[in-house]
Amino acid sequence: MELGQAIKTRRAIRKFKRQEVSKETVESILEDSRWNPVVAAFRGWELVVATGKTRDKLADLLTQNTVILRDLFAMLDSDSENKALEYYKNLGDAPTLIFVTVPKFAENHRWEYAFSIITGVTEFMQIWLLAHDQELGACGITVPPYIGDQIAKELGIEDREIICGLSLGYPDEQPAAKPHPRVKVTYFD
Ligand SMILES: Cc1cc2nc3c(=O)[nH]c(=O)nc-3n(C[C@H](O)[C@H](O)[C@H](O)COP(=O)(O)O)c2cc1C
Repeated sequence: MELGQAIKTRRAIRKFKRQEVSKETVESILEDSRWNPVVAAFRGWELVVATGKTRDKLADLLTQNTVILRDLFAMLDSDSENKALEYYKNLGDAPTLIFVTVPKFAENHRWEYAFSIITGVTEFMQIWLLAHDQELGACGITVPPYIGDQIAKELGIEDREIICGLSLGYPDEQPAAKPHPRVKVTYFD
């Protein structure tokens, strides 16, 4: 798919077919996603791929978002609010979950912390686009620290912070494009 086309046709998919994504497919996406721009000194982020029983356990923990993020969702229009709440019941049945993690930096290392997150998210975004290119669907997963701690404990990686996640699978919906208004851009010459 042509890049501009891929960027414009990528959507947040919140409903997936009950069809596994093969390990080879996930690996091929991750093989390409690592070509993201990096702040070389801060390669602190890592990825977690959860399928099977682990995926079910993590999806179960994330149902808490229907309560934790309720105020946030209430700011959306009612259709989007319902979709967001529905998504968190079982992450749209997505068979594969990918999480971005960073080390737990000390308070006086905020700069490293920020750059690890920023760089990790550049890879997260490449994964989303590459998935779309392979006719897979994906949707971001907001991970509040309260749930992130529980996920890290479940995975035995308590020394790491879970930044955000991505649900991945074969799409079972074709959502219309959402408006993506241009942010304020100021040109100086
Ligand atoms: C870091 C990140 C976290 C997200 N978390 C959620 C989420 O928790 N629940 C959800 O329904 N969508 C989530 N999304 C998806 C956005 O809501 C979606 O991208 C946005 O509404 C624009 O829609 P589009 O991606 O189809 O253009 C997330 C996106 C990003 C980048």
